[in-house]
Amino acid sequence: MGDNTLGTLFTITSIGESHGDLIGIIVDGTPAGIELDLELIQQELDMRKPGQSSLTTPRMEKDKVKIVSGIFNKKTTGAPICLIIENKDVDSSKYEEFKGILRPSHVDYSALMKYGQYYDYRGSGRFSGRITAGFVMAGAIAKQILKKYNITIFAYTKSIGNIIDEEVYNTSDYESLLELRENSLVRTLNQEKSKLMEILINEVKAHKDSIGGLVKCIVSGFPAGKGGPIFNSIESNISKAIFSIPAIKGIEFGAGFKASSMKGSEHNDPWILKDGKIQTIKNDSGGIIGGISIGMPIEFTVAVKPTASIGISQKTVNIDIMENIKIEFSGRHDPCIVPRVIPVVEAMTSVVLLDCLLIDGFVPRVFKS
Ligand SMILES: Cc1cc2nc3c(=O)[nH]c(=O)nc-3n(C[C@H](O)[C@H](O)[C@H](O)COP(=O)(O)O)c2cc1C
Repeated sequence: MGDNTLGTLFTITSIGESHGDLIGIIVDGTPAGIELDLELIQQELDMRKPGQSSLTTPRMEKDKVKIVSGIFNKKTTGAPICLIIENKDVDSSKYEEFKGILRPSHVDYSALMKYGQYYDYRGSGRFSGRITAGFVMAGAIAKQILKKYNITIFAYTKSIGNIIDEEVYNTSDYESLLELRENSLVRTLNQEKSKLMEILINEVKAHKDSIGGLVKCIVSGFPAGKGGPIFNSIESNISKAIFSIPAIKGIEFGAGFKASSMKGSEHNDPWILKDGKIQTIKNDSGGIIGGISIGMPIEFTVAVKPTASIGISQKTVNIDIMENIKIEFSGRHDPCIVPRVIPVVEAMTSVVLLDCLLIDGFVPRVFKS
């Protein structure tokens, strides 16, 4: 499998670059016979697109989705579905100006070492956050199919810098959580914390700096006994997909790293028979044991690094003249990527979990509605 394809039966192949003609995704393995809601795909894309508020990059893109294959008589045919958006607001001038100058913690050096002079550096090319628009389009297909089985995937901003939304939310009330999140410019749930997070992002922006944060994702309704042990564990496959999102630096399931300082008596999730169903009283395992789902919500948290391209003066190297220099990067960038990562995390999770259910046979290859 190449570097740009993910999945086993439900596969996605990412195409396009930041300042090329388009960004796209080829989705193969979608069951035949599904009527896709194009409006829902567009809604997911709108959540990710740039220029949504003063807190995001000023690049203005409509990101209007176009499906160019795989649908006939309004239903999926089982053939590959290709979805694209065009790149319209392209400004490569800054990248020409800074060519040869290695942005600290960005891909200039690693991409140059791998691809040499052929690397498309315009807007960071294939390494741009813009390629995640393709992930979101694929995820919006997977999400719709999972919804038919009452499986919901919900992510929100858990923290920005040191401002943390520590509340524990009841995810069975999916619609209210969605409403809360969409009331918040930073896509958190606690509205007071939301205001503090906004203030913090505006502060770092005013100082030409950037800030990171945490995204929490909760999957409800996922059946028990799915996923493979060892190399196909749900944790492994979700982690791989999540790390394909640019700027992700960590992931933890359930109690995660905190488990390392807990006692077994604290960390163990006691089993309980409730309403005739086997459940656990709490969920420090994050819904997965032995790589296989236990029917509890699948819960994980993702660490998003602060945006690398900042306007503050930094030490670096001009590789064209082989000299140590200082730069102040003045291209367009997000002071905080976290709110725009939310739909991408949901999308990649949906892609992995639909693949898992297709492999298991839980979701058929031809859908009978
Ligand atoms: C939605 C989104 C938008 C992003 N926007 C920027 C940006 O404006 N400036 C920047 O330096 N990095 C941005 N990134 C992150 C870089 O693409 C990423 O840090 C870089 O490719 C290096 O990869 P790594 O951080 O995963 O190691 C963005 C990422 C995402 C997901």
